[in-house]
Amino acid sequence: MDLRRVALVTGGAGALGRGIGARLQKDGYQIVLADINASACDDAANDIGGDTFGVQMDVTSAPSVESAVDRILDRVGRIDILVNNAGVLVKDDHASMDEETFDRIVRVNLKGPFLVTRAVIPAMKKQRYGRLIAITSRNKLSGGMPAYAASKAGLDALTVAWARELGDWNITANAVAPGSIKVTPGLDILNRSPEQQLASNRLAISRTPIQRLATREDIAGAVAYFASEEAGFVTGETLFVAGGFQLAPASRYASDSE
Ligand SMILES: NC(=O)c1ccc[n+]([C@@H]2O[C@H](COP(=O)([O-])OP(=O)(O)OC[C@H]3O[C@@H](n4cnc5c(N)ncnc54)[C@H](O)[C@@H]3O)[C@@H](O)[C@H]2O)c1
Repeated sequence: MDLRRVALVTGGAGALGRGIGARLQKDGYQIVLADINASACDDAANDIGGDTFGVQMDVTSAPSVESAVDRILDRVGRIDILVNNAGVLVKDDHASMDEETFDRIVRVNLKGPFLVTRAVIPAMKKQRYGRLIAITSRNKLSGGMPAYAASKAGLDALTVAWARELGDWNITANAVAPGSIKVTPGLDILNRSPEQQLASNRLAISRTPIQRLATREDIAGAVAYFASEEAGFVTGETLFVAGGFQLAPASRYASDSE
């Protein structure tokens, strides 16, 4: 890479954000991690090492997002890649979900990417270069956890809208939709007990053609592709990195007829 490109990863203190930051750093980018949890974000930046640094950012607050983006631009001058990864997941079903929980999920997972993307677009337009990458989910296809699924489906739709609107400035927008990711000890988006994790992992694996959970590296590899120069003509896509977990199950009798 002649020019050192800058990659901003939201939710950078979390399990996947760290993995994405580490992969993109290996690929030569300057990494900036942003998270609501400032001290965990600094720890994650130290773990990744090199010139990686953390900034505090609450993706649900326009002033917080705008001041964090200003600080990043003051320090490193550009933002080439934005990975909208910050997200929350509350196990819910529609009947029992309260309004506040619904609002919180949509605020972080959908409004957050809108605010962060809106804040970085002027710099990307000026550069005439940008890569917007959203972390969504295969969950929107299968039902279950309706507020979460709706927030991620909305983010896929925003991605298509960005792809359409920003192409004139050489800005692409794509989404990576993971299946269930192998949990990092101490970092579980669902705060499950080890027993609950085991049970839900078994269920996910039994429904996944490539009989395993996703690793952070699986997801980070797809992000690295969308971030790369060679993906410059790919925009408006959602790539499932889910081992086939997104596919409807085969007919119960399929194997009988083979
Ligand atoms: N873990 C999975 O199995 C899985 C599967 C599919 C998609 N995803 C998606 O991947 C992304 C990362 O998930 P993860 O497993 O690393 O979860 P995680 O809980 O480990 O990380 C999420 C991070 O987002 C941060 N965050 C939450 N609210 C924020 C806010 N308002 N502002 C800024 N940061 C905020 C948290 O502090 C945390 O560091 C999420 O968008 C999630 O929906 C995860």
